[in-house]
Amino acid sequence: MSSFKPAAWPRTLRSQGWFGGTSKDNIYHRSWMKNQGLPADLFDGRPVIGICNTWSQLTPCNAHLRDLAERVKHGIYEAGGLPLEFPVFSPGESTLRPTAMMFRNLCAMDVEEALRGTPLDGVVLMVGCDKTTPALLMGASSVDIPAIVVTGGPMLNGKWRGQDIGSGTSLWQLSEDRKAGKISTEDFLDAEMAMSRSPGSCNTMGTASSMASMAEALGMALSGNAAIPAVDSRRRVMAHLTGRRIVQMVKDDLKPSDVMTKDAFENAIRVNGAIGGSTNAVIHLLAIAGRLGVDLTLDDWDRLGRDIPTIVNLQPSGKYLMEEFFYAGGLPVVIKALAESGQIHKDAITVSGETMWDQVAEVRNWNDDVILPFEKALTQHGGIAVVKGNLAPNGAVLKPSAASEHLMTHRGRAVVFEDIDDYKAKINDESLDIDENCIMVLKNCGPKGYPGMAEVGNMGLPPKVLRKGITDMVRISDARMSGTAYGTVVLHTSPEAAAGGPLAIVQNGDMIELDVPNRRLHLDVPDDEIASRLAAWETIVPVPASGYASLYYSHVIGADKGADFDFLLGGRGKEIPKDSH
Ligand code: FES
Repeated sequence: MSSFKPAAWPRTLRSQGWFGGTSKDNIYHRSWMKNQGLPADLFDGRPVIGICNTWSQLTPCNAHLRDLAERVKHGIYEAGGLPLEFPVFSPGESTLRPTAMMFRNLCAMDVEEALRGTPLDGVVLMVGCDKTTPALLMGASSVDIPAIVVTGGPMLNGKWRGQDIGSGTSLWQLSEDRKAGKISTEDFLDAEMAMSRSPGSCNTMGTASSMASMAEALGMALSGNAAIPAVDSRRRVMAHLTGRRIVQMVKDDLKPSDVMTKDAFENAIRVNGAIGGSTNAVIHLLAIAGRLGVDLTLDDWDRLGRDIPTIVNLQPSGKYLMEEFFYAGGLPVVIKALAESGQIHKDAITVSGETMWDQVAEVRNWNDDVILPFEKALTQHGGIAVVKGNLAPNGAVLKPSAASEHLMTHRGRAVVFEDIDDYKAKINDESLDIDENCIMVLKNCGPKGYPGMAEVGNMGLPPKVLRKGITDMVRISDARMSGTAYGTVVLHTSPEAAAGGPLAIVQNGDMIELDVPNRRLHLDVPDDEIASRLAAWETIVPVPASGYASLYYSHVIGADKGADFDFLLGGRGKEIPKDSH
């Protein structure tokens, strides 16, 4: 049973540290707020709720969140709270360079300090695009005031020439088709017009949809939140209800640390396997757990996800898109199926105040070609496979549901790219000594190497291989992969090359063995040869001399531990900072 017990109400809230009383400081804090036309009784001790908004036109997936925030405000006012909306830095996946991941931790720092330094008793986290969801959960976890997630929802299905177009997944596929001469550039441009038909985040089970699902599976969003399309009126209802709920959460003092227990993370890991979720979820959940002091490791991902069938038939692993997932019943149907097979901690408390099981017990599956029965799963071994060996002493990950069965056990000759520029310079060269049996190795794309750990691990195949009709090869790197991508791709190899991991010393012609069933990644080079290569190794990655890049490079920890900053691990609480007025 959940051990959570609601706090007594009424009581004096944190916000009264600013707004309660008649001192000069209290009057100072209140009077400035009143320039927004707020009546005096709104400062009478009722819950003050932050609406932490990652709205930005530079994060197109979140560009509709101002509208949604208004719905949240309606709910907060109705429930007797005072809503105060504020912006935080918004790392947008499709626009931000070198990679949005480099700024996830910056966003999390922004959220943490904004929450601690202002008169907030609780917060609604408004997120959508890939990094915004983990960043806000990380920041809120560090402060540990009551918090609830509402996502912006996925875009409508792309539609092009009679077929559905999935965000990212179709782009990668069409790009390979153009390289192979199957479509023209004009065709590609025509498809571009049809890809993003509405507000919202990627409509595949990419990282954004995976993280929305993780927020729900962790218990941090209301049940059913993850899949509602951005433009469906029920998304606005969800925002409204979320606003109502956070007020009661503050009264009950239901905090992230009460909800995101080890059981909740175990639930989320299993759900990620069942949905065929993104490999990025591995890094983000490790980072969130790190803020809460929950003992979660890469091995937990392998142990818990190993035998979870992937039952959500969505791209990139399957066929459909988020719209169909919603119409089929969405994530609650998946959680119910897992719970009935003993794979969910049913008593985990959620932000609704109900247990996970209470929320899903009555739901039905409305389309069993979208949410499959276990016996018809896309793969019986979903989840995330963690491989280890002399090439990845701290581990590397692979998504079996997006990989090719015939490559899960493979020995091949390494074709090495020293960094992403080296790859781009060579991959289209017809004289490159490569065939479909080779293993492509990409170095220096980890957290320090890129920096930020770019989503380039699913390297496109060489044209001469594609022309044979081959669509997959084993690829190994310390990079990440877009959640919308697919292939037999070994990612997050740790330690990364730029930190002196063994990946750094792989040479063209070395033989590599990938054995996913036995969780093994082996460089078939004698130990003494590996040792002498490592002794002679020097990084080719320039060390940033100043600015945020320098902070990032100096303090980012390995992908196997969540790629957070070393100085942000653990929580720092909600104690009110000293006033300077
Ligand atoms: Fe923002 Fe995919 S690019 S959700």
